[in-house]
Amino acid sequence: MEEFKFPVGFVWGSATASYQIEGGWDEDGKGLSIWDMFCRKPKAIWSGHTGDTACDHYHLWKDDVALMKQMGIQAYRFSISWPRILPHGTGSVSLNGLDFYNRLVDELLENGIQPFVTLFHWDYPYDLYCRGGWLNPYSPDWFADYVSIVSDQLSDRVEHWMTLNEPQVFVGNGHYTGNHAPGLKLQRKDLLLIVHHALLAHGKGVQAIRAHAHGPVKMGFAPTGGVVFPKDNTPGEVEAARREMFSVGEVPYWSTAWYSDPIFLKQYPADGVKLFENDMPEIGPQDLDIISQPMDFYGVNIYGARPASPSAPFPPPGFPISAFYWPVVPESLYWGPKFIWERYHCPVYITENGIASMDWITLDGKIFDLQRIDYMMRYLAELQSACSQGVDVRGYFHWSLMDNFEWADGYRQRFGLVYVDFQDLKRTMKESAKYYQKVIAHNAVLLPSASEDLYGILH
Ligand code: GCO
Repeated sequence: MEEFKFPVGFVWGSATASYQIEGGWDEDGKGLSIWDMFCRKPKAIWSGHTGDTACDHYHLWKDDVALMKQMGIQAYRFSISWPRILPHGTGSVSLNGLDFYNRLVDELLENGIQPFVTLFHWDYPYDLYCRGGWLNPYSPDWFADYVSIVSDQLSDRVEHWMTLNEPQVFVGNGHYTGNHAPGLKLQRKDLLLIVHHALLAHGKGVQAIRAHAHGPVKMGFAPTGGVVFPKDNTPGEVEAARREMFSVGEVPYWSTAWYSDPIFLKQYPADGVKLFENDMPEIGPQDLDIISQPMDFYGVNIYGARPASPSAPFPPPGFPISAFYWPVVPESLYWGPKFIWERYHCPVYITENGIASMDWITLDGKIFDLQRIDYMMRYLAELQSACSQGVDVRGYFHWSLMDNFEWADGYRQRFGLVYVDFQDLKRTMKESAKYYQKVIAHNAVLLPSASEDLYGILH
């Protein structure tokens, strides 16, 4: 076994999201989210699955924290369900909702696990959607009011906060292609207005966390990576890939720069502004000041990458892909953090990385998810290389702690380090969880030596 060390103090975590794991969809006064409703739309979700029960984390949270403790996980990235705190999105607060997250945070801290909180991971309050949702000019204030309540409750114990998870996806899939909740297919003018309101919500959310903080807080957000990798390491190809990664293109909703430049550079990317001039939202005189609040870290979800100006369709025949058909591109965890850090000069956390694989329990009661182990080895080796070359990466959160509700794919995709039997909700650690336990213990990526095979690493 060979090991390649990560920086001292590097944080090893796992990630989940409220709608994907909690269940308790209508329990203890929780309000409806757009995902509760979207799952009831015929054919919206594979095989009619819903998040009504999911992993029943709402009741099994203590067991799940114990599993993280057993794996030696140092930090846990989870999201808060807005309608569990504010059943109608604004107005009356649910004390049961606050109590659930208070107990979860206390349990994490008692087990030496740092909570990293995502404030919005797509489960938007249905009542606010009925009032226009992200199109409503009050939507940034609705979000800030919700965030104030959460910060007031948890900021004495929670230090790391992310405002929005993957705005590219809740805007793009939720309001453009329509395959995610709320299932809309809007025109560019409306979509750019939604993005602007989401960015204002981010800025007001950061202000609210800090204004209501009862302890030190570090602010981030968690967009997708949109990573572009170069044909080779020559300066010209590297520069071409960097340029392409941050270009906006005709459809800005999936872009990295369209969201990150206003936040970190206090301006929308010029190429996009020129392209969309007639569809651009009205930008108030204070808007970019609000949006560009000082940030403490750049969280980013990276699963793969696309090649710079490909000469042929990607991936080529036979290229490794996951059960989700996503190409396996380990160098995405080298180029992504590198390009992001060099552009925004902000410490980076990998807030999601992982693979969907066809896991099942073999007759001996184990789950030999060797593809996930190999994936982790390859991706972490690239991340370690970026760190060793001075890219300021502070931590890695594996997606996901456990198999969960994968949005429009329902329970068809398994991303977990822990296997969940969705009939009896029994959790079983996969072999990858045991590998991750060793990675964390060594603070290093562990690779098989020339004479070893993967099993050698595990025993
Ligand atoms: C995302 C979301 C997660 C997904 C995961 C696998 O990145 O799309 O943050 O909720 O479940 O990425 O698709």
